[in-house]
Amino acid sequence: MHLDEKIWLTLSFGMIMIFMFITGYQTFALEMGPPSHNETIDPQKVSETPPFDQPGIKKIGENEYEVVMTLQIFSFDPMEIEVPAGATVHFTLTSKDVVHGFQVADTNINAMVMPGHIQKITQTFDKPGEYLVLCNEYCGAGHQLMSTTITVK
Ligand code: CUA
Repeated sequence: MHLDEKIWLTLSFGMIMIFMFITGYQTFALEMGPPSHNETIDPQKVSETPPFDQPGIKKIGENEYEVVMTLQIFSFDPMEIEVPAGATVHFTLTSKDVVHGFQVADTNINAMVMPGHIQKITQTFDKPGEYLVLCNEYCGAGHQLMSTTITVK
């Protein structure tokens, strides 16, 4: 083997190790890994399982709200969400039937909501307005009708 080849091999191997170390550091030390679906629920018993037995919006602090929401063909429950401007909203979501999407226009929220899994998202709504909420996973014949709005006043 040429010396040049050895140098290149060493360099490329070293680079791979460095990249793997950076990824590992970000994932474990900086907690930048993708969310894991640790929280599960019996998808057959969503309506009886807290907190999903009482979907709705609840004030939990100074301009801080919790929204417990179920997604089902072809709607969001609750449909009416209204919060003051600047509110921080903690969404807890699950599906009652098939895979749905939870995308909120003008925000970074874009999540899959799967039956049997609990999806949690936190978002602060600084700008007043009507935020369009869409299901962006094809879920059946009425998929295109599955939308609602979040009103920020
Ligand atoms: Cu729900 Cu598409």
